[in-house]
Amino acid sequence: MAGNITLTMIKPDAVQKGVIGNILQMITDAGFQIRAMKYYQMTTEQAQQFYAVHKERPFYNDLVSFMTSGPIVAAILEKENAVSDFRKLIGATNPAEAEEGTIRKKFAENIERNAVHGSDSDDNAQIEASFHFSQLERF
Ligand code: CMP
Repeated sequence: MAGNITLTMIKPDAVQKGVIGNILQMITDAGFQIRAMKYYQMTTEQAQQFYAVHKERPFYNDLVSFMTSGPIVAAILEKENAVSDFRKLIGATNPAEAEEGTIRKKFAENIERNAVHGSDSDDNAQIEASFHFSQLERF
């Protein structure tokens, strides 16, 4: 059965642009409920751990630098089929390929500075939710 939560981060590029509110509006308009939320700047160690699956990729160091360059908004979102519905809402990783009306089409700059993160599987949604939030921080 498809899971009901996904983990998002509004990334430093979108925070810097002042579009946190616009993005949260799109998320809630699409029927997602916010179960946890926090605004903070990840340390290098945290970003390295979060993106450990990409450790061997050529963009890994740049990605870690970018993700620690300013604060992010991390949130747990709940909805039926949360992972796949959220990935539809945010659009393709590369904003040049993202469909009209998606968050990345509207706000992302390029494949790295792509405005938002969304979990890519139910298992990763659980892992990523636990990465950012304790049980006491979930509602
Ligand atoms: P995200 O979905 O958060 O997860 C991995 C991130 O790595 C991705 O968003 C992009 O920010 C980044 N990324 C993926 N592919 C590339 C690439 N080819 N070049 C640079 N950054 C990338």
